[in-house]
Amino acid sequence: MKVIVAENHGEVSRLAADILEETVRANPCCTLGLATGSSPVGMYRELSRRCREEGLDFSRVRSVNLDEYVGLAPTHEQSYRYFMDSNLFDHINIDKANTYVAKGTGDIEENLREFNAVLDGADIDVQVLGVGPDGHLGFNEPGDTLCDGAHKESLDESTIDANQRFFASRDDVPRFALTMGMGNILRAKKLLMIVSGHKEDAMRRLLLSESIDPHCPATFLRLHRDAVVLLERSLADAIGYKA
Ligand code: GLP
Repeated sequence: MKVIVAENHGEVSRLAADILEETVRANPCCTLGLATGSSPVGMYRELSRRCREEGLDFSRVRSVNLDEYVGLAPTHEQSYRYFMDSNLFDHINIDKANTYVAKGTGDIEENLREFNAVLDGADIDVQVLGVGPDGHLGFNEPGDTLCDGAHKESLDESTIDANQRFFASRDDVPRFALTMGMGNILRAKKLLMIVSGHKEDAMRRLLLSESIDPHCPATFLRLHRDAVVLLERSLADAIGYKA
């Protein structure tokens, strides 16, 4: 696992964009695994700029997203489909027909079958990850066991607390989500974790301990052959991590 400590969030975003740009330039037909949350927003802004100003071409790129809330239609401002359109897809020359975000409304079992079929047919070149304060990846919540494939997850109270800032009230935060499983994530050729915000506990367990612990799904990154963790110096200093 490669750990990069950047001076600030702007630098984290630029370095993360460099990794995605390299992937797209090396293989213009690549498949990107994408993530939502505030951590990758700066990277998406930078990629949009590079597409607009520097000709970075997404016309043949495919994408699949980590997760989606159950109960939010794609038109809902807090749905992850809406997030991806407004933060990235509307600003680059990707064909939206080649982008996939699981459907959170309608027949959930059917949506899960579709999600798993898409993942079975996808060979993800780089999977972008944020991390929850409790170490969750996508919506794989800490627990005694973790799932391999895409599944429906019941959100932990701490995740509902962390994500309520995006909703009018805590009651409006969905209680369930569809998420890629840990197996889907770990099968990506490369993992790119972007860490921002108060993730001290999760980062202590990932960077300062040696255990692989399902109670902190982020620790599974250590099992991957090509995982990159990008964090800001202030967070590294806060947990006493020395590169
Ligand atoms: C949500 C998403 C995760 C994301 C996490 C952290 O729970 N399902 O994929 O990593 O939020 O979000 P943020 O980057 O806003 O801290």
